[in-house]
Amino acid sequence: MSDPQTAIDAAATAERDSRIHERTAGERQEGIPFIGAGPGDPGLLTVTGKELVEAADLVVHAGSLVNSELLTTYCADAEQVSSIGKDLEELVPLMVDAYEAGRSVVRLHSGDPAVYGAALEQMDALEHEGVPTYLVPGVTAAFAASASLRTQLTLNGVANHVAFTRPQGTTLDPDDDHIGEFVGMGDVTTCIYLGTHAIGDTMDRLLEAGHDPETPVAVVYHASWPDEDIIEGTIATIGDRMEAAGYRASALVIIGDAAQKVGYERSYLYGEWANRTTAEEETSD
Ligand SMILES: C[S@@+](CC[C@H](N)C(=O)[O-])C[C@H]1O[C@@H](n2cnc3c(N)ncnc32)[C@H](O)[C@@H]1O
Repeated sequence: MSDPQTAIDAAATAERDSRIHERTAGERQEGIPFIGAGPGDPGLLTVTGKELVEAADLVVHAGSLVNSELLTTYCADAEQVSSIGKDLEELVPLMVDAYEAGRSVVRLHSGDPAVYGAALEQMDALEHEGVPTYLVPGVTAAFAASASLRTQLTLNGVANHVAFTRPQGTTLDPDDDHIGEFVGMGDVTTCIYLGTHAIGDTMDRLLEAGHDPETPVAVVYHASWPDEDIIEGTIATIGDRMEAAGYRASALVIIGDAAQKVGYERSYLYGEWANRTTAEEETSD
């Protein structure tokens, strides 16, 4: 197998992939599908994802981030391999060998592979070895969390934008941590992935920077799993509440008024616009 970095570099300099214009998202394609498993509940896997997983001989999955109930429900008879603790040098030959032996291989990522998923480096390495790949989208954790909270991430009069972000840490320099900037914009719902363990530090930084301590924060642990839990508070209180709850991973942190649907307004869509005959701009649905 080639060095994965060679595959990444080759992909970066290659011509635009013609499949971009020939295939649509959701269409079955030749090769190994990289499937978004959704947030946890087996029912939140897409229909296409479910059918591909059911037909698989080998399922390489994201370990504890994928609900084991989903694996037992849809692919109990397939060989199942967790990707946790395996580097590209181990994962890629595993998938190449199985695919070349004529087995049906799927790669299951949690949520949607496009959000903090590291799918592309595997796909580029596989393509470099002559194995085609494609993406099948899934429900990302922020969407499950907003459903659990019975709110919207964008909300009329409250939040016009959504940021998917992560806090500084081993893989993100403090200079690249933009949580304070998103919160400071006021009308952004800030969805923090990979930040459960660091919520106290994150809130302390927001307080030190002068952000409103009363800003709502909701944390959804294991959204859509049977042990889902919701901890609510503010920038000032959520750190202590999370410490008491004891969750160190697998939670989505939502900062902003939309988390508690505070003060939203009736929308134009189901008001004045409903009686118009032509649409001049794109609307919500
Ligand atoms: C490596 S990222 C993968 C994100 C995934 N690709 C997605 O689209 O949801 C893992 C982080 O996603 C969040 N996460 C994933 N599944 C979750 C769930 N069911 N409930 C809450 N947060 C979840 C947590 O913040 C976790 O630390």
